[in-house]
Amino acid sequence: MNRSPTSRHTSGLLLAIESSCDETAAAVVDRQLAILSNVVSSQTELHRRYGGVVPEIASRAHVRRIIPAIDEALRTAGVRLDELTAVAVTSRPGLVGSLLVGLTAAKTLALTLGIPLVDVSHVEAHLYACRMSAGHEVFPAVGLVVSGGHTLLYDCVSAVDFELLGSTIDDAAGEAFDKGAKLLGLGFPGGPAIQQAALSGDAKAVCFPRPMIDAQRLDFSFSGLKTALLYAVTGSSQSRVVAPQNLQPARIGDLAASYQEAIVDVLVAKCRQALARTQRTTLCVGGGVAANGRLRQRLLQMADETSTKLVLAPPNLCTDNAAMAALAWELLDRGTVAPLDLDVTPCPLRGR
Ligand code: KG4
Ligand code: ZN
Repeated sequence: MNRSPTSRHTSGLLLAIESSCDETAAAVVDRQLAILSNVVSSQTELHRRYGGVVPEIASRAHVRRIIPAIDEALRTAGVRLDELTAVAVTSRPGLVGSLLVGLTAAKTLALTLGIPLVDVSHVEAHLYACRMSAGHEVFPAVGLVVSGGHTLLYDCVSAVDFELLGSTIDDAAGEAFDKGAKLLGLGFPGGPAIQQAALSGDAKAVCFPRPMIDAQRLDFSFSGLKTALLYAVTGSSQSRVVAPQNLQPARIGDLAASYQEAIVDVLVAKCRQALARTQRTTLCVGGGVAANGRLRQRLLQMADETSTKLVLAPPNLCTDNAAMAALAWELLDRGTVAPLDLDVTPCPLRGR
C-alpha cells in the first residue's frame, strides 16, 4: 500500500513481534490492517535433524535474530521507530525461553519510545488472520486453531472474547502430522511432507481410527492415531522398530493419504458439531495445519453443505507470523494496554 508517512502516521502504525516457537517474526501493520511488512525468519533448518523443535536452540536463535527481524520489518515498511503508535507482542502461549526474547524486545521498545505495549495471545492471533484476510468483520464465529502446539475450538463472541469449546487431550493436530511424518521417514516439518506424499496415495488404503469423532465432547485426541500408524508401518512385527526405509514409495503414499484423511475427518466433524451446538453461521480456521490443502477442500465442502460462511486464514498467515498480532488494534480500541512487568505464559488461557 502506497501512502505517505504522514497519512500512515495519522491512521496509526503497529510494530508486531512474534517469537513463541521457532519463527522469529516482526511486522508493521497499519490501523486499516494493511500489512506494510511481514518478516519471518524460520528456524526449520536448525531443528530438522532433531525431527522437532528443540526449545534451547530456538531461544538462542531468537536472541540472534530478533533485532535483525525488527530492523528489516521497519526498513521494508519504510517506517521509522519514532513513527510507531504501539508495539504488540505474543506473550502466550508458547515456549517460555522463546517468548521471553520477543517480550523483552517489545518492552524495551515500548519503554524507550514511550508508546503502549499490547499483549497478544498467539492462538487468538491465529484466528485474527482470518479477519485480516476477509477485509471485514467475521465475528461472532466458531474458531478452530490447528497448529503444531494446539488444537483448540472456540466460540468467538468477538475478536477478543473467546469461549473454549474443546481442545486436544493429548497431541495437537500439527504434532500428529509431525510425528506421523517422522514414522514415515518424511522429514520435518511433517505437515507439508505428509500433504505432498499423500498426493500419490489412496486415502482409503488403510482404515485408521477417527478418535472421538462421535463423542459428544468437542475435544480431540490424536495420540492413538499415531500409534495406529506405527503399527501400520511395523506391520505384524512386534519389534516396534520403525524402518521407513523398508517401505515402498507407493505404501508411504497410501499411509500418508489415509493418515491425513483421518486427521481431516476428525477436524471437519468437530467443526460441524461446534457449528450445530453454537448455532453460529461463520467458521474461522487458522494455524499451521490450516494450510493443508485437503483440510481446506473438505472444510469448503462442509461449509457448502451447512450454508456456513467459511473464513480460512490465507496460507502465508497460517504458519507463525507477526502480522496476525494486529489483533492488538482491537485491544487498543478497548483500552487494553499491557504493563511493563508483563510476564510470559506458556499455556493458553481459557478465553480472555
Ligand atoms: O502455527 P504453526 O506455524 O506453529 C505453531 O503455533 O505450532 O504450526 C506449525 C504446524 C506444524 O506442526 C506443521 O507440520 C503444520 O503446522 N503444518 C501443516 C502444513 N503446513 C504446516 N500441517 C498440515 N499440512 C500443511 N500443509
Ligand atoms: Zn502458531
